[in-house]
Amino acid sequence: MIILGLETSCDETSAAIVDQGSVLSNVVFSQLVHQKYGGVVPEIASREHETRVAEVVKAALQKAEIAAAELDGIAVTYGAGLMGALLVGLNFAKGLSIGLNKPFLGVNHLEGHLYANLIANPEFDYPFLCLLVSGGHTQIWKVIKFGDYSFLGGTRDDAAGEAFDKGARILGLGYPGGPEIERMALNGDPGKHHFTIPMVKSAELDFSFSGLKTALLYKCKAMSADEISRQRPDLCAGYQEVIINTLFDKLIKAVNVTGIRKVTIAGGVAANRRFREKAKTFAADTDTQLYFPAFDYCTDNAAMIAFAGFERMRNGEFSSLSLKPNPNLTLGS
Ligand code: KG4
Ligand code: ZN
Repeated sequence: MIILGLETSCDETSAAIVDQGSVLSNVVFSQLVHQKYGGVVPEIASREHETRVAEVVKAALQKAEIAAAELDGIAVTYGAGLMGALLVGLNFAKGLSIGLNKPFLGVNHLEGHLYANLIANPEFDYPFLCLLVSGGHTQIWKVIKFGDYSFLGGTRDDAAGEAFDKGARILGLGYPGGPEIERMALNGDPGKHHFTIPMVKSAELDFSFSGLKTALLYKCKAMSADEISRQRPDLCAGYQEVIINTLFDKLIKAVNVTGIRKVTIAGGVAANRRFREKAKTFAADTDTQLYFPAFDYCTDNAAMIAFAGFERMRNGEFSSLSLKPNPNLTLGS
């Protein structure tokens, strides 16, 4: 079964070709235009998708050496994400579906992130835990089987990726903030600036990151521009460390509560190298198997959408042309 995946939920226009679960191409156009605004501007994102989507799809087909007529189906993100951005991808997929007379399926973006892990490990066995850490989500899910998810905890305010993005803005760094903070932290000492772990004492599996960003803001307000400039690597290292420690703290609790010692990490923050490095210690200390997707499949990409779509389509699941985008789609819905 050859599937075209299409992803336009935020600021990446991406198309991929997946054949029986193996990725033949994965073309990602990242909208750098948002960098100057320090975050994604929804209207600009929609317009950029509209401009790029056809050429990105064409490039994915060419790279995979597949003709459009050979496709067996189209998998497209229909939520969660930005309404206008989702509309572009979904309508494009519907147009293709009519034009090529091929079925299409709306895919949950979060399920795509979750299954990015299975691109490398298709034989993964259930149940397992998934920590979903992206720009819009920080959640822990128990994955009972494909399509059957139980919510264990999530952020009460900002997502971990959002904490990176907002922290980067406070520190005068670019967007997206995660890679910027990670790069700057390489030359910093995480022990120089102490930040407390949000909700660390709580037995619940919920997160809170908004206080952390405020703590960073106050710290910076008490420093001169020159001090900030000199201490930026240390500030980044300390800030990054507390976010990562918070994620591990709640993961330990989730492992203990459920007794499930197999954990996948999904979403853009999974690309963080410090996070991956510390995961080795976490895995050894807690006797837990921890899996990260390949770097290319951490941040938004269409391969993960095609992959999740393939799992559903091969069981005969397809969408009708009346499908609407759902900006607030969750994994449980
Ligand atoms: O999954 P994703 O591409 O889009 C959403 O679905 O939100 O995640 C984007 C988020 C951004 O907040 C970005 O700052 C963060 O992932 N991110 C990182 C890294 N790369 C991307 N955070 C920390 N370290 C990174 N290397
Ligand atoms: Zn995403």
